[in-house]
Amino acid sequence: MTLLQLLNDRVKAALALAGAPDAQAIVQQAAKPEFGDYQANGVMGAAKQLKKNPRELAQEVINHLDLQGIASEVSIAGPGFINIRLDNGFLAARAAEALKDPSLSVKADHPQTVVVDLSSPNLAKEMHVGHLRSTIIGDALARTLTFLGHNVIRQNHVGDWGTQFGMLTAYLIESGNEQNPAHALEDLEDFYRRAKVRFDEDAAFADRAREYVVKLQGGDEQVLALWRQFVEISLSHCEEVYKELGVDLTRKDVMGESAYNPALPGIVAELKAKGLLTEDAGAQVAFLDEFKNKDGEPAVYIVQKQDGGYLYSTTDLAAARYRADVLKANRALYVVDARQGLHFQQMFTLARKAGFVPADMQLEHVAFGTMMGDDGKPFKTRSGGTVKLAELLIEAEERAFALVSEKNQDLSEAERRTIAKAVGIGAVKYADLSKHRTSDYIFNWDTMLAFEGNTAPYLQYAYTRIQSLFRKAGLPEAHQPIVIAEPAEHALALVLAQFPDAVDSVSREACPHFMCAYLYQVATQFMRFYEACPVLKGAVETQQSRLQLCQLTANTLKTGLGLLGIEVLDTM
Ligand code: ARG
Repeated sequence: MTLLQLLNDRVKAALALAGAPDAQAIVQQAAKPEFGDYQANGVMGAAKQLKKNPRELAQEVINHLDLQGIASEVSIAGPGFINIRLDNGFLAARAAEALKDPSLSVKADHPQTVVVDLSSPNLAKEMHVGHLRSTIIGDALARTLTFLGHNVIRQNHVGDWGTQFGMLTAYLIESGNEQNPAHALEDLEDFYRRAKVRFDEDAAFADRAREYVVKLQGGDEQVLALWRQFVEISLSHCEEVYKELGVDLTRKDVMGESAYNPALPGIVAELKAKGLLTEDAGAQVAFLDEFKNKDGEPAVYIVQKQDGGYLYSTTDLAAARYRADVLKANRALYVVDARQGLHFQQMFTLARKAGFVPADMQLEHVAFGTMMGDDGKPFKTRSGGTVKLAELLIEAEERAFALVSEKNQDLSEAERRTIAKAVGIGAVKYADLSKHRTSDYIFNWDTMLAFEGNTAPYLQYAYTRIQSLFRKAGLPEAHQPIVIAEPAEHALALVLAQFPDAVDSVSREACPHFMCAYLYQVATQFMRFYEACPVLKGAVETQQSRLQLCQLTANTLKTGLGLLGIEVLDTM
């Protein structure tokens, strides 16, 4: 049970004994240390319901509140808040308990099967920054859910089907590269651009491209073989990026749009049989009353075009059904750009109406905002082009290398390269993950690579500092008593005890920034403790106690950053 759950349970029980069995405890971390460590806000609402004086009810709740051995101080504040200060002995015991398991494992009470739809680039082009967020937010969520003991199934829903592939095939043949596509596709982005130019300028080329689409969909062996090579080459580009990013995604996670192609006629037939489709200008559409426009007309959701072709929406309906029926998911997270919000809300609604997903399966669009340049506009190259992800990551490492070299002239080049990789990639990921995912954010090299503030380098640095302390003092001996006496020790032990709550909120709300905010608190409290409580001076018992707090801090930073896909270093 997490600390927050424990306190909520106890306050809830006391509320019940005080005559408010239906009231919520609403325990939160206190805003200021003067208020204690936690504050319960549920009394005022309950008092209103019961028509009682809130401060009197608060006193009754406190009389029933059993925090023996947990809290050292419980008091009423303001109109009826209950302030709770945790007991130093309790925090010391929690720390000792947590130190027994260096990986700090936390298990969910009810393990689920969770599908995480992440990354999902379009394979006709090279991966660009637009897919960075989906890849790293999805990876962080998948790691966190796995850590909690859920059965996580990663699904890389790559765009590997559709009209662009007809265009690429036509251009591959026209440019005489049919025999050696790997070479022609080395710069996939450039190849795509040239094909698009041909498509736009030459009607005959465009017709040929369309013919190839028909052939591809009809299962023509020659076109299929070329298409497979496109997909193969493009996927290996992606894999290089995943490897560079340190993201846990491989071929076995790829379940692209093409995989659902055979299921699409059945999806449309089933929707029709259930009376959910209407013919509208030759297309098959669903009218969704749940989504009315400003004139009160229901939204039109197209599942089959006039020419019989299927769409992104049809594929997603098939994928939703697959995730329910075959993968047996209890929960599916779609880590996709916020601009696709309406598509997902409508798709979820239709999938439920059609019975493709059961009522008790959670479907969540884990939406994220846009990555902006310093000018406040979507992030672009200087010439206004899309930024290739691979190039961005190289730049991150180069910049980190320059910084690290400046700070550590005595390290070998190889060592500096290793550090630069962890710092550069970590900085890019952390800058992204630390913002609330739904907001847009400004991508800025200097802020993300700063060694102060809520950044990856700051947290990584806090970790190395502890390691260097251990190099001097040795690791603490196991099972020595931990004594919490100073306010800075109390504050550090408190935040360390909150790790399971941080993991829990990331998984519940699918928001990795909770972990970042938490780790920043850990590092900040550690630095305060380090200033206020000399670790290597004083009695041996004090040293051993404080070294253990250092060790738990290091374990927490390492595990927490690991859940975000960020490495720690022993030196930097
Ligand atoms: N390939 C799509 C894009 O780049 C994202 C796919 C997201 N996943 C999904 N199930 N629709 O916009």
